Amino acid sequence: MPIKPKPLTFPKNFVWGVATAAAQIEGAAFEDGKGESIWDRFARIPGKVLNGDTLDVANDHYHRYPQDFALMRKLGIKNYRLSVSWPRIYPNGDGEINPKGLEFYNKLINSCLKHGITPWVTLFHWDLPQSLEDRGGWTNRATADAFAVYAETVVKALSDRVKNWITLNEIVCFTLLGYSKVGDKAPGRKESEKVVNQTYHHALLCHGHAVKAVRNFGGKGARVGITDNSAVPIPVTETPADIAAARAWFIEKNSRILEPIYTGRYSADHKKRMGADMPDVQKGDLGLISLPTDFLGLNIYTGAFVRAAKGKRYEELPLPADFPRSSCPWLNIMPQVLYWGTRLPAEIYKVPAIYITENGCGYDVETLTESGEVHDLHRRDLVRNYLHELHRAIADGVPVKGYFLWSFMDNYEWQDGYTRRFGIVHCDFKTQKRTPKTSAKWYAKVIAENRLV
Ligand code: NOJ
Repeated sequence: MPIKPKPLTFPKNFVWGVATAAAQIEGAAFEDGKGESIWDRFARIPGKVLNGDTLDVANDHYHRYPQDFALMRKLGIKNYRLSVSWPRIYPNGDGEINPKGLEFYNKLINSCLKHGITPWVTLFHWDLPQSLEDRGGWTNRATADAFAVYAETVVKALSDRVKNWITLNEIVCFTLLGYSKVGDKAPGRKESEKVVNQTYHHALLCHGHAVKAVRNFGGKGARVGITDNSAVPIPVTETPADIAAARAWFIEKNSRILEPIYTGRYSADHKKRMGADMPDVQKGDLGLISLPTDFLGLNIYTGAFVRAAKGKRYEELPLPADFPRSSCPWLNIMPQVLYWGTRLPAEIYKVPAIYITENGCGYDVETLTESGEVHDLHRRDLVRNYLHELHRAIADGVPVKGYFLWSFMDNYEWQDGYTRRFGIVHCDFKTQKRTPKTSAKWYAKVIAENRLV
């Protein structure tokens, strides 16, 4: 019997891209009037970042962006998710604007477009101006007011060329992991549950302010959404009972962010769980937070296995010690998260469009061969298996419109410094030489053929 393989083709106009963030690649941390960010400060506290690595130089993208865009073009990459650095625009977070900061992003966007690449701009990817942190940071409601001005400034400056806007990146990471006992991220504070909950709420206000800025000043065709790192369950078996359990788990674990954004309220269940630790909410806050958006951006890497259990809404299974993972202890390899992580929010919140704004993996040892290649077959296979599940979601009718691989090149992986490599392009941080890895060549083919190869 002749075998006829079915090509795993993606929908027409599917958005293929790569992602980075300002602080992780730009360097030039104190150049041209840029203010200090909480990560510039945090990296200098001994013991906070592996090897004491700083963001001072990073990939030197600030000076090398034309070459980086040329390389993207060579790989056929048509969409690029980047972020704007708040302390480059407002060195103190508010007050005086730094014209050189705006000039840099003007030139960057022009160069991006000149290379035939569509920019997707994130307004906040963790680099809070230190001056705002000195005044309370995310615990202070005034930070949201400062953000509103910053967002409006950036949207006004770039909206003639930028049409795709992402408000904030991963609220949970820069609030919970920066301000609570369990956190290992800047600014490294250890606040009470109540204060931590207030930080989420303030970040959600920023999301609303950014949506408003895009609606008011984004011009024709502008679109906006948030990027969330929603926690993702995988039903242990695909039976109605386990799927219902996974659904309940998803709603509960993501209730802080997705419920207020999509329903305009903190749910009764959430309030019950928070009790006296509920954040203070002012009149009008939830209306601002729940302004309609055009898409949901999701950063999905890993998840949890969940099943139905008697007398409980769900049961989460512990992972065996030998479960496959990347070099990151948190990144367990579970391709099905791209299926359930897109299907569940689409079903629960009727999200009109979903973009995977990040997916990929980090490894600590990725060396060049004598012939100057990097055979990251583990990354290539991981991405391929994850994409297979994304393809299944689309085939089942989930409105997934695009995928951005994290990351274009190895970069500053926050508290793991330069050790942990997430790029499909290798970066030698001593010479700044870029070398596309096996995964980059493979991904270039996927993009060119719009199918899994
Ligand atoms: C989440 C973050 O958005 C990004 O900055 C980080 O480098 C990757 N995931 C990998 O951890």
